[in-house]
Amino acid sequence: MMTPKSTESSRLAAFVEEGRRRVDEALGLYLPEADEDPKASCPSRLASAMRYSVLGGGKRLRPILCLLAAEACGGDAASALPAACALEMVHTYSLIHDDLPAMDDDDLRRGRPTCHKAFDEATAVLAGDGLLTLAFEVLAKHIQPAGAAIACVQALAEGAGPDGMVGGQMADLEAEGRTDATLEALEAIHRRKTGALLRASLRMGGLVAGADQPTLKALDTYGHAVGLAFQIIDDLLDVEGDEAKLGKRVNKDSELGKWTYPGLLGIEGSRQRARQLAEEAVEALRPLGEPGERLRALALDLLERDR
Ligand code: IPE
Ligand code: IPE
Ligand code: MG
Ligand code: MG
Ligand code: MG
Repeated sequence: MMTPKSTESSRLAAFVEEGRRRVDEALGLYLPEADEDPKASCPSRLASAMRYSVLGGGKRLRPILCLLAAEACGGDAASALPAACALEMVHTYSLIHDDLPAMDDDDLRRGRPTCHKAFDEATAVLAGDGLLTLAFEVLAKHIQPAGAAIACVQALAEGAGPDGMVGGQMADLEAEGRTDATLEALEAIHRRKTGALLRASLRMGGLVAGADQPTLKALDTYGHAVGLAFQIIDDLLDVEGDEAKLGKRVNKDSELGKWTYPGLLGIEGSRQRARQLAEEAVEALRPLGEPGERLRALALDLLERDR
């Protein structure tokens, strides 16, 4: 007989699978086509690079969080789909730039050559720029009503911008090679470089569904905890993960002198911290009751991820 948790896990797996399919389909429609006609507005090479990076795999975690949050707030996944796609565009742009030689200098992403390896550095910079901009166009055009679109634009800009992901990336690079790491400073980096966009994903799902302030607050507390836990696991996978499964190089963090959780807390300490955060996330959603169940299951599943 299946335990309640495994029933919930399999219901979650079905939702995730269906969510990914819908997100991939919508992304394919939003992204510019690679049109060889020189009069086409988006140059073919730029469209190809954007499509290559976005449509070449990826777990689609941020879109799934957005869809699950909308569902947990009584909304429907279809109306949150443009927000889910905008999040994936911004996330993919962050990966393209993160992989550039000027940043982490990686040659493998999502199991394939990184954007600047498959194309060239200038094209990768512009593909990232294009995705970041297109994300906001999609929100402005496709989120209804207008008030929800404006709120989503604000949430995404805050999560991705200088106080969020971009600021975290700057801090991550500035910390490289320095020997004065503290847990507090590392947490501040991880919360911005990865946590902020995950928080935005949940908030945007809630906003599209018209969630009230207490519910948005609960989603935010959940996102805060899951966002940090997600980057801790990313750090752990860099130490003990499998390159073939991850689709990206391992042992890069120590090579680059990055500040990481395993570097500061060790493997077991990092796992414990991630587990504690996942439990905090589950607890934060208690007020949502049954509709929050899939998000709660996801927080726990993420602890076990191997990619
Ligand atoms: C990798 O993100 C970079 C981090 C912010 C940790 P993901 O692990 O979500 O990468 P994809 O989207 O599945 O490729
Ligand atoms: C990246 O963190 C966070 C981003 C904003 C892209 P990492 O540099 O650890 O991500 P990976 O390990 O290259 O995917
Ligand atoms: Mg990085
Ligand atoms: Mg990196
Ligand atoms: Mg990493």
